[in-house]
Order: sequence, then C-alpha cells, then structure tokens
Amino acid sequence: MPLIRLDRFICSQLPGVSRSGVKELCKKGQISVNGETERSPERKIDPYTAEVAVLGRRITYKEHLYIMLNKPAGVVCATRDGLSQTVIELLPPELRRQGLFPAGRLDKDTVGFVLITDDGELAHRMLSPRSHVPKTYFVRLEKPICPGAGEAFAAGLTLLDGTKCLPAELICSQKPDECTVVLHEGMFHQIKRMFEALDNNVIFLKRIAIGGVKLDNNLPYGGVRELKSDEVKALTSAE
Ligand code: URA
Repeated sequence: MPLIRLDRFICSQLPGVSRSGVKELCKKGQISVNGETERSPERKIDPYTAEVAVLGRRITYKEHLYIMLNKPAGVVCATRDGLSQTVIELLPPELRRQGLFPAGRLDKDTVGFVLITDDGELAHRMLSPRSHVPKTYFVRLEKPICPGAGEAFAAGLTLLDGTKCLPAELICSQKPDECTVVLHEGMFHQIKRMFEALDNNVIFLKRIAIGGVKLDNNLPYGGVRELKSDEVKALTSAE
C-alpha cells in the first residue's frame, strides 16, 4: 500500500474535517501517530498500519464505505437533484464522505434496500448488464395475481413494448395480491412493466434483498447502517 499524507488520510476518513482543520489540530497537538503527538500534516503514513488518533479517538481506516439504506418513498436515487431529496442527503454527517453514490436506482415511489458506496469497482460489477446479482422485491398489486404468472416470469416475460426479460422468479404469498419477485437484471421500471404486461398494476414495491444480503428489519424508513464484513464479502463475491 503506498504511503499517504496524514492530512489526506484524516480528511478521507472524517467527513467534515478539512485540510486546514487538520493543520490546526496538528498545531494544537491533538493528533497522534503510533502514540506520539504529530505536528506535521504532511507526514506520510501507511493507512493500514498507522495508529492515528484525533482528539484521543482512534481512526480505523476504511478504504470504502458500504451503507445499507431503507429508502423511504419520495426520495430519489441520485447524488444531487434540484427538486427532490436524495438518498445521499439522508446520510448522517459522520457517514457523508466524498464520492458516495447509490449503486443502482429505485423509483422515487419504491422503498427499501439501496446500497450506497464509494467503491466504483463493486458498483460497476453489480450494475453491468452482464452482472446477474439477484434483487428481491416485495410487491403488492392492484388485483390478484393471474394464474400462470409464475410460469410467465420463469419463461422470460415479454413487456408491452416487446422487450424480452430474463427469466425471473415470482413467489406467491398467502394473499392473492401480494408476492415476492427476484430479478436478475435491472431495467427501468421493470417490475411495474412486467405486471402491466399481465394486465395488473403495482401499488407498493419494496426491495428486500440484494444478492445474499437482506434488508435489515430493524432499519426504519430513512435509517442507515454500514454493511457488516460478511455482507460486504457476499456482495463483492456475487456474480
Ligand atoms: N422495478 C420497478 O418497477 N421499480 C423499481 O424501483 C425497481 C424495480
């Protein structure tokens, strides 16, 4: 791992702390490296092994952040938007690092699991057309699901505009107008368009899993938490 400057390291790990802020903290003797007060913000350190503390608080280096958000309705999956609140704006200040973006989009009225990260490589792999990382959705419909819908999804449904979908799973529930759908691709408004092709309408849509990672039931709408290391591993190794 190449060495990096102490001020760059601190700014990358502590959102809201600027280079001039680090300089000030160094001047006041409030930063230590490996237990020794460090007064030079230019000091080069190995981010993985150096023990850096700011105001006595140790910083654990994270190259990337992986954040699970339970997206509420009315919020857009974008980094910036002139009109609506974005998923990035829901992040608490301590997680608002530079470079974070939503890896994949849900419609404004769709709720549930959005992965927010600054790991471009992972996002690219998850979102590329050749990636078939399954995404699981809970769906409530306007009308009961028609007979044969499961077979139609499994065979690869054709949308009203002629687009052919990859095979998908439709799992019925106790209620005739509710189901779970697993997609292996992510076309625009895909689930809504799939049910339109079956003469039905989606009235509620929630993403409940990405790959093998389930949305945490303890997260309220708008709630976030960092992924655990086994969850990150499950996503980074998913095809
Ligand atoms: N399918 C949709 O129709 N909308 C979403 O937000 C996600 C999947």
